[in-house]
Amino acid sequence: MPQSQHGGTDNLKTSIGHNWQEGPINAPTVLNSSLSVAQFWDGRAADLKAQAGGPIANPGEMAASHTLAIDVLQSIPQYRVEFKQVFGKDEITIDEVTQAIAEFEKTLITPNSHFDQWLLGNKDALTAQEMAGYDLFKNSGCVVCHNGEAVGGNSFQKMGVIEPYKSPRDAQGLAPLAGIWESEKGIDTSRIHSEETVTRFRK
Ligand code: HEC
Repeated sequence: MPQSQHGGTDNLKTSIGHNWQEGPINAPTVLNSSLSVAQFWDGRAADLKAQAGGPIANPGEMAASHTLAIDVLQSIPQYRVEFKQVFGKDEITIDEVTQAIAEFEKTLITPNSHFDQWLLGNKDALTAQEMAGYDLFKNSGCVVCHNGEAVGGNSFQKMGVIEPYKSPRDAQGLAPLAGIWESEKGIDTSRIHSEETVTRFRK
């Protein structure tokens, strides 16, 4: 279960699915995920709505089917009422379900970090050391990729440019993410698909 003190992740090397199955890959954070250039580690879903249907039907995750999920929702009167209020029709389809999940996920943002406050004009929000770090970040060229609203990598890049990258896992992903400022808050930053890599960035 993603928790805010874990940076919106389950803080596990790989996530646990139906029947305690161990997944093949480190689950990305839900926080600020709407600001990512694409969804899933290999970017195969263009946006959160396109991503949301996958886990429901994945045998290693929720191990259900879209039909079953919709049947469950239809069987709960309050959901029927609320879906009708929002979408204006009686029938619930996977389209409304994934749209609802995506809209919820868009609310999971972390808008008030020290850096955000500094950008909004509070000159005292960053310490001298943090300012020096920000200058280094800019002067070292990190901002070529890390820019925009969430200062995320905004791209897919090959890992192991300096040293060969080795993951013990088959699933390699492509590592698309948004935002590096969780690290500033000292919480989990497991936002690269392999836990082995993440530890390098951890405080
Ligand atoms: C060529 C593009 C590129 C450059 C240049 C670059 N990065 Fe990245 N960086 C990425 C990508 C892509 C990711 C993975 C996706 C993401 O986190 O946004 C990433 C991830 C990260 C992460 C992990 C983010 C997280 O949320 O866990 C940190 C920290 C980071 N980079 C720091 C740096 C620093 C420091 C520099 C400069 C020395 C730098 N990067 C330069 C593309 C780049």
